[in-house]
Amino acid sequence: MTLDATQLDNARDPLDRSRAMPAGFYTTPEIFALEREHVFLKNWFFVGREEGIADPGDFRTIDTVGGPVLLIRGDDGILRAFANYCRHRGSILLEGEGNCRRIVCPYHAWSYHTDGSLLGCPDMADAEGFDRVENGLVPVRMEQWAGFVFLNFNRDAPTLMEHLGDFPERMASHKPDTMRHCWTVTLDARCNWKLILENAMETYHTGIVHRDSVGAQTSRSLETEGQWRCLQVLSTRSIATLPDATPSFPPIDGLDADARMGTYFTVVHPTCQFALSQDALWWLNVLPLAHDRTMLEIGGCFPESAMSDPDFDTKAQPYYQRWERVGREDVDILERQQKALASVLYKPGPLSWRDDHVRAMGLWVLDRLPLAT
Ligand code: FES
Ligand SMILES: [Fe+2]
Repeated sequence: MTLDATQLDNARDPLDRSRAMPAGFYTTPEIFALEREHVFLKNWFFVGREEGIADPGDFRTIDTVGGPVLLIRGDDGILRAFANYCRHRGSILLEGEGNCRRIVCPYHAWSYHTDGSLLGCPDMADAEGFDRVENGLVPVRMEQWAGFVFLNFNRDAPTLMEHLGDFPERMASHKPDTMRHCWTVTLDARCNWKLILENAMETYHTGIVHRDSVGAQTSRSLETEGQWRCLQVLSTRSIATLPDATPSFPPIDGLDADARMGTYFTVVHPTCQFALSQDALWWLNVLPLAHDRTMLEIGGCFPESAMSDPDFDTKAQPYYQRWERVGREDVDILERQQKALASVLYKPGPLSWRDDHVRAMGLWVLDRLPLAT
């Protein structure tokens, strides 16, 4: 699969004369297959907060671009990630979330300790050369930032902290380690995964698509080090609630001067946005399923101190409503964009200065694909 070389050259031009990516960047299974191999399976991706998996035996299962994964807290208190399949003939081991003392395969009842080591395997005494130690669960690389859990299928990738660069330091005054996850909605978006993140990193559309919700916004792009990007929407009051709903929670104590100026909309390449307002944190986490289909998980977090408010559930409702409403408004316009990108007459259009992250994110992905040009 090759994309039009002239169109790619135009996409690389400086912003004031660059154009959008070729349609095939968003519409072809071949590009999606390359992205899977060279982007999704090579980089860190976010899978959730750790606090729901706090006690020995607590587990959560997740679907990832590399297949089903199991997060489980061992009897030794250590959180681990494993490929969620049995070493006998590959059944899924656990589903959903819960707590278990042992992992027992639902097919032929091989069993595993919570640290992944093989515990029992009926009727295997005659199997020649069978090695119990070799047949524990297959670990997946896992690292955390402030309780946010990331996985990576690439053994050779840099550490998560190297990937994140100055992100932890720049977000430190929000005290992300005190954030607790309390809300999630998942949207099935019939569009390419990149459209979701491009949209999440520009305020060009907000006065139009979100005219009846968050409305027009002004923003500035901030310099970053590492594999992340940052757009700050300027507003000294939190924009985690709609303009007609006064934020229920006070600003986080000790926010630095920069953080007080507005909400950080970040993208940690390749597939996750963390948004940090003065009083809350929410994420847009994308699970790319196909060139034209993406699961979008929107997750909400508040500082522990806010969640200890006896009226927390009521006070948090305006935040949940805003996050879901704006997410649905975005998915609606992006599904229409995806349809139009399939036009045989499509030609990439010129970008605005407000599309700076759109251009940069496209190039970030493009530069990782082995395309013949
Ligand atoms: S597939 Fe798990 S015991 Fe057979
Ligand atoms: Fe939007």
